[in-house]
Amino acid sequence: MSKVEFSRGLEGVIVAETGICSIDGAKGKLYYRGYHIEDLLQERDFEDVSFLLYFGELPTTVQRNMFCEFLCKTRVIPQTLIDAVQRMPRSLHPMEVMQSLVPMLTNVPVDMSSVQKLFSDFGLDGDSCGRDLALISQIGCLTSMVYRSYHGKSIILPHDSLGHAANMLYMMSGKTPTQNETKAFDQCLSLHAEHGFNASTFTARVVASTLAPTVSAVSAGYGALFGPLHGGANEKVMQMVAAIASPEHTETWIKQRLKNKEKVMGLGHRVYKTRDPRANAIETLLEVVSEEHNNTTNITILRIIEKVVRENLGDKPIHVNVDFFSGSVYEQLGIPPTFYTPMFGAARVSGWIAHVREQRSDNRIYRPGALYIGPTPRNVTL
Ligand SMILES: CC(C)(COP(=O)(O)OP(=O)(O)OC[C@H]1O[C@@H](n2cnc3c(N)ncnc32)[C@H](O)[C@@H]1OP(=O)(O)O)[C@@H](O)C(=O)NCCC(=O)NCCS
Repeated sequence: MSKVEFSRGLEGVIVAETGICSIDGAKGKLYYRGYHIEDLLQERDFEDVSFLLYFGELPTTVQRNMFCEFLCKTRVIPQTLIDAVQRMPRSLHPMEVMQSLVPMLTNVPVDMSSVQKLFSDFGLDGDSCGRDLALISQIGCLTSMVYRSYHGKSIILPHDSLGHAANMLYMMSGKTPTQNETKAFDQCLSLHAEHGFNASTFTARVVASTLAPTVSAVSAGYGALFGPLHGGANEKVMQMVAAIASPEHTETWIKQRLKNKEKVMGLGHRVYKTRDPRANAIETLLEVVSEEHNNTTNITILRIIEKVVRENLGDKPIHVNVDFFSGSVYEQLGIPPTFYTPMFGAARVSGWIAHVREQRSDNRIYRPGALYIGPTPRNVTL
């Protein structure tokens, strides 16, 4: 009998058509709706990137103003939800807290007055699209509130005159961030906003394919993103850097890990067979903030890790990925490791909702098959 072929981890399996994101894994190129990520970073902010992902085009000035006003007006978290944030057990990881709280956003009223024209211009149903897009600002606020609560601090309400990235930083620290801090965080959000059919986005699409609400898809996305093989890797990278502690110990530490056949977090990727372009961009951000804060230990350790892994696994295409440098940028912004993946989630919500919309536009429920290897039919009675 011929052996039935299947693909472990769905590698190489095409499950849908998409117009949102394309990746050239061999060349290390990433495009959002046809725009190269590096060009977007130079010219546009997270608000424009979120608009592009959802609507398919970059906004005109008028559209951008409408959209930014909408995002600002939807930074509303009702008191019942703030109470829920504060009652969450501290034993839960903030990613578990986010996964639990997101469905509670279902009934939060959304002020759509500023975007009705925008939706009609794009021929979209204002009500459901407005609710989906409001998740970007609601989740930004919720993440910052969870951060405050987790650290035993009082909740800070949103600041109307700040953009999305600056407002999130303000709601976490209580201080208006500098221009460099805002730019670094904004670019981290844009770089994490979308990445094709990764595990959490695919999860969100599977949930959306059952016609469950967007909040259920996004909440499920959080569950998938939490794992250390996906979004949780940036937290693990920083635990590794803390364990290594100094540049002198790095080479021996990494060589020992490789000898034990353990993975080095922040390296390797299913799609990229060269350096992840997002890692290039984040390394540049890290260089700037490290020099500004006069703290270059992490970047030195990380560069040694990369060199040692490349020297020892040179025959395998294992290169640094998006999670390798991002934790260190967050650290320079005063954000602790437990909140690195929640920052990733606050960015990725833009990608998830764009995919949910795309999934719904040509839906068929996902239901793959599997190769059964269990017992042959047998009787319950002896
Ligand atoms: C991202 C990742 C899950 C991709 O997984 P994958 O495509 O299923 O690849 P595999 O885990 O099968 O790895 C293929 C080979 O490379 C090795 N490898 C992959 N990533 C490695 C890493 N970070 N460190 C050391 N070796 C690694 C594996 O041990 C395996 O070797 P083998 O063929 O001798 O068994 C994987 O590279 C990984 O676990 N990386 C660390 C976690 C991480 O940084 N995740 C964030 C992704 S953005």
